[in-house]
Amino acid sequence: MATIVPAPSSQSVAAALAATGVGTLTTPTYEWFTDDETLLSVPEFDDDAAIVVGSTATNDAHIELLQLQDAVREAGATDITTVIPYLGYARQDQAFKTGQPVSARAMAKAISTGTDRVIVVNPHEPDVTDFFTVPTEAVDAAAALADPLDDLSEPLFVAPDEGATTLATTTRDAYGEGEVDYFEKERDYDTGAVEVTPSDATVEGRDVVLVDDIIATGGTMSGAIDALHDHDVGRVYACCVHPVLAGAARTKLAAAGVEAVIGTDTIERAVSDVSVAPAIADVLR
Ligand code: R5P
Repeated sequence: MATIVPAPSSQSVAAALAATGVGTLTTPTYEWFTDDETLLSVPEFDDDAAIVVGSTATNDAHIELLQLQDAVREAGATDITTVIPYLGYARQDQAFKTGQPVSARAMAKAISTGTDRVIVVNPHEPDVTDFFTVPTEAVDAAAALADPLDDLSEPLFVAPDEGATTLATTTRDAYGEGEVDYFEKERDYDTGAVEVTPSDATVEGRDVVLVDDIIATGGTMSGAIDALHDHDVGRVYACCVHPVLAGAARTKLAAAGVEAVIGTDTIERAVSDVSVAPAIADVLR
């Protein structure tokens, strides 16, 4: 049996992972000092194997994950798996302008130094796993997004951009019926403004489930919802694996007329209706 070590950012998902039976939960100590430094410690444990679970949605969360990895090595773990439910900086997977870093690579290298293996849930680009220097697997948890969906009328599963079509298909397959389509998205990288162009699919009277990997500012999803409401659409659901929901994103979606926002617990939010723990456990077993 392995010891599961939760980072502050991932306590619910770590508990859900322990409930699957892949390990035993331990309770670390988290200290935050007035100079902004952190000290995360683990109690003594007997297992050789440790599973450190930590999403890196903030800069502090990156440091906290590195500290826990080091703490479990100090505590005697010889086989460390690092589970990253949400990998921050994954969208900075290349230098988009001269002088920029490849931030995803920098983070992956740092995380790799403290672990023997990495599991990451729905990284923004699958190739990001190549930046890690230890064996790394991506987990697709999009099927779980279908669980809370009501009985839908003539459902249409839509990716707000072409890249998310696989996720929309996975969610549709898990729901069991419906068509899949995608919209075209243009983002102005200077202003961040998003323009979403709907497809030719008939949406009148149909329930539409929008599926994306991340909802961050909510610009993409609210743009897609606006485009749907230009027609006589039925209910519109906004689903994502990673509910970053920065700033006023949740309000933006409500104002656009969303029926419900459905997310997972990769980032612990009020909309985290489903857990990615079973999908992670499948890879760990
Ligand atoms: C981009 O390609 C991603 O899949 C998401 O569509 C994007 O990160 C969402 O960001 P926002 O909510 O800020 O529009």
